Amino acid sequence: MLLRVDKVESFYGRSQILHGVSLEIKEGEFVCVLGANGAGKTTLLKTIAGLVKPRRGAVEFAGRRIDAFPAHQIVREGITLAPEDRKIFPQMSVYKNLILGAWVHGGAPEKIQKNITQAYDLFPILKDRRDQMAGTLSGGEQQMLVIGRSLMSNPKLLMLDEPSLGLAPLVVERIFEIIQEIHRRSTTVLLVEQNASMSLTTAGRGYILENGRIILEGPAQNLLEDEKVKKAYLGL
Ligand SMILES: Nc1ncnc2c1ncn2[C@@H]1O[C@H](COP(=O)(O)OP(=O)(O)OP(=O)(O)O)[C@@H](O)[C@H]1O
Ligand SMILES: [Mg+2]
Repeated sequence: MLLRVDKVESFYGRSQILHGVSLEIKEGEFVCVLGANGAGKTTLLKTIAGLVKPRRGAVEFAGRRIDAFPAHQIVREGITLAPEDRKIFPQMSVYKNLILGAWVHGGAPEKIQKNITQAYDLFPILKDRRDQMAGTLSGGEQQMLVIGRSLMSNPKLLMLDEPSLGLAPLVVERIFEIIQEIHRRSTTVLLVEQNASMSLTTAGRGYILENGRIILEGPAQNLLEDEKVKKAYLGL
């Protein structure tokens, strides 16, 4: 198992958000977690990334317990998060924004160059715009930049927090195609989304998170055909 989240309970102050969440991801899988606003999706990703410390439960990555590690150490272990808020540095060039994701390589030029080449290959638009200030990019391009930057550390597990949020349908399709391509190139993917139909037609397996609890899990195909999922998440 590449990632094992075991009965995790996460809080903000006294307010409990995750109530014993468990999930497992094998190397090479593409897994999605679906849930409505406030279900705890971002909190779950932050807990795995070490940005929120679970009060109970455990997170294991590649057989090692990581939940007490600081966030930068977790990146070194091979997990990156493309965050929901898409924070970029608007006054810096696209190229410099990408380079910021490569700090784990400690300045080793050949590793940085290899990752830049990969990022430009996945996102040709970022290559075209490399000298442009990142703040001038469109919403979809900024999302691409955030994903590209997350890949600069060459992660084993890429976590994506609602990459489709606020983007036009055609741009969403493009983003999902690219995520699929990243997965094909052998990165394990954990995707959190409200867009259930796109996610379940792209991922291999899924979990449904409601009020901080996993209420359903299974192969994406089964979830697509599940009556409850159809009603609550697919609007069918
Ligand atoms: N920093 C924080 N301090 C206190 N409460 C928070 C904090 N961040 C989130 N919450 C609360 O935790 C709950 C879960 O939030 P979370 O962001 O994990 O949900 P989500 O599923 O990602 O929602 P969305 O789809 O809107 O992004 C919400 O009720 C939210 O108000
Ligand atoms: Mg969220």
